[in-house]
Amino acid sequence: MQSLADYQAVFQKYLTENGFTHEPNELYEPVDYILSIGGKRLRPLLALMGYELFAADISRALPVAMAVEVFHNFTLLHDDIMDDAPLRRGKPTVHVKYNISTGILSGDVMLILAYESLRNTEGSAAMTHKLWTIFNKMAREVCEGQQIDMNFENRNDVTIAAYIRMIELKTSVLIAAAFEMGAIAGGATLKQARPLYEFGRNVGIAFQIQDDILDTFGDPEKFGKKVGGDIIQNKKTFLVLTTFALANAAQSADLKQLMATPTTDEIAKITAVRAIFEAVDVREHAEKTMDNYVKTAFDALDKSTISDTKKDYLKAWANDLMMRQV
Ligand code: IPE
Ligand code: IPE
Ligand code: MG
Ligand code: MG
Ligand code: MG
Repeated sequence: MQSLADYQAVFQKYLTENGFTHEPNELYEPVDYILSIGGKRLRPLLALMGYELFAADISRALPVAMAVEVFHNFTLLHDDIMDDAPLRRGKPTVHVKYNISTGILSGDVMLILAYESLRNTEGSAAMTHKLWTIFNKMAREVCEGQQIDMNFENRNDVTIAAYIRMIELKTSVLIAAAFEMGAIAGGATLKQARPLYEFGRNVGIAFQIQDDILDTFGDPEKFGKKVGGDIIQNKKTFLVLTTFALANAAQSADLKQLMATPTTDEIAKITAVRAIFEAVDVREHAEKTMDNYVKTAFDALDKSTISDTKKDYLKAWANDLMMRQV
């Protein structure tokens, strides 16, 4: 395995050399914009690491890495329209900087660009067929998760189990598939790749719970997104659902009331909701739940046939990821 910085540098170079600057500029400039303003590049990293568990020369995994990152960024363009989000990676979102039609259409073309990248993967027909199958299943599931996320905004009977299924679909299947596809491109069999998918799926669930935590408790200087956005959108986040489970009758009634009242003063609403979250120590509970998913991820990884050194590397990476502020 290489250093994280090395993987990032390899991917960044490929992205720079294979940019998407075409005509009409109005369609492609936002693509370049969203891909150039940063991001952790988690999914391409997983694709490269997954590949290197089974093969040398990670350059052969770059089309897969590109496909998952471009797909991810496509989902962000549309997600930010759905969530009415003004900020992404510390910069204006595409639909705010340009307009909503641009956010939709540049997002659409990114989905196609992701497929074109995947097509550039070299390998046997059997191997590429596996990649297509995993990618297509994942892509549909992300859409399903996004729809369920929006459905939940207007529902008051969302269970924690239903929430976990929703974030599994909207977030963790892409993280899992990026890792699995990297491994398959490197020559892993479906059986060898399975524990890696499970590792990614469970890390991904913890990752989205953490995203919910950061959306409310993150440092606005570092987070890069509007802190409190989920509260304003009445998202049924892990924090909201767990608070209902922990709260006394008065706290529950207050939270219900806050979520049912049209927002006139955003800061006041965020402050009031956050105060109820803090009164029940919801952050602590959320972090415990994250830990449990990370443990399950490690158990899955332990079932893999890769070396202990590689397992330790991946576990250290996941533990570091759980400390993120961005
Ligand atoms: C944001 O993903 C969307 C979620 C699934 C929470 P990331 O947190 O990986 O976003 P970037 O790519 O680093 O900006
Ligand atoms: C992320 O959900 C899921 C997808 C983008 C598909 P969020 O809506 O929580 O992601 P952020 O917080 O806007 O990055
Ligand atoms: Mg969002
Ligand atoms: Mg969303
Ligand atoms: Mg979020």
